[in-house]
Amino acid sequence: MIFRQLFDNASATYTYLLASRRGGEALIIDPVLEKVERYIQLVHELDLKLVKAVDTHLHADHITGLGALRDCTHCVTVMGEQSKVDVVSMRLAEGDKLTIEGLALDVLYTPGHTDDSYSFAMRDRVFTGDTLLIRGTGRTDFQNGDPRAQFDSIFNKLLRLREETMVFPAHDYKGDTVSTIGEEKACNPRLQVKTVDAYVELMNALNLPNPKMMDVAVPANMRVGLAQEEIARRGLAVSAAEAMMLVGAPDVAFVDLRERAEREKHGIIAGSIHAPYPDIQINVRSGGMLNELARATGKRILFYCAFGERSAMAVQAAQDCGLESVRHLQGGIDAWKKACGPLER
Ligand SMILES: [Fe+2]
Repeated sequence: MIFRQLFDNASATYTYLLASRRGGEALIIDPVLEKVERYIQLVHELDLKLVKAVDTHLHADHITGLGALRDCTHCVTVMGEQSKVDVVSMRLAEGDKLTIEGLALDVLYTPGHTDDSYSFAMRDRVFTGDTLLIRGTGRTDFQNGDPRAQFDSIFNKLLRLREETMVFPAHDYKGDTVSTIGEEKACNPRLQVKTVDAYVELMNALNLPNPKMMDVAVPANMRVGLAQEEIARRGLAVSAAEAMMLVGAPDVAFVDLRERAEREKHGIIAGSIHAPYPDIQINVRSGGMLNELARATGKRILFYCAFGERSAMAVQAAQDCGLESVRHLQGGIDAWKKACGPLER
């Protein structure tokens, strides 16, 4: 496995780059905007293809690199289903898997620091965001933080991982880089409490100043911007109500860009073709499956995904390859469901 721990000095943030092999797909966790050029350089140096960028939660102390990485690499932006951030193109919930080629991370919902905090666990390591830090825990006094929920997340989820599991947090202010679950259980001063009430009391007595960047970072991270706004402006978006009229139309091909697990969990639009987003470049270029479909049958392609972000980027990719008659479902299956569009399992 390729694994890199990168550091942003200004916010003391750790960012993690993972891939199963050289030349393969890569995933980045908690990227910082100011470091995006460095990440992209490293991705090139290691001959990787960045396919997913993930934030463990809505950050208050730095501006996320998710939007910039999406714009540079067309990667899928990922957060938990509680997140109110607009940039997200895939949302995960407890029990889901965060996957790239050769790697699958278990998704743990670990609220407390914020109500949209997630951790991602692999066999030998866990990325704990700001839920569990090295000899500390993330503050719980803003952004719908809740010390009671955090106690539950830490004691009933994270500390139940194997003792030798390595802990990689989103921050460290002392220079520590890694710990283990066993070490934190034994040595983390915040975790030496007997009851949830004692933990709540401890956390509520911290009286920390707000992060320097909070007033800037939170609004900036809430609204990173959507790829689909530009596509809509160019008249290439179809609303859920309009798309419903096209189901079964002989000259329209619905193309589902989501992953298999998303299709199984949320259902599919009847008669649609499955063409996962990571293969979009191969599928839309000359000789590719979707390119052939459009040219041989004259069908109009209607891309859809979970929220309309991947499908908007797919419209752009298809147009770049000379396919004119492509549109996408604005807002994705999320909008389709809200419009009571029928789904097949
Ligand atoms: Fe945080």
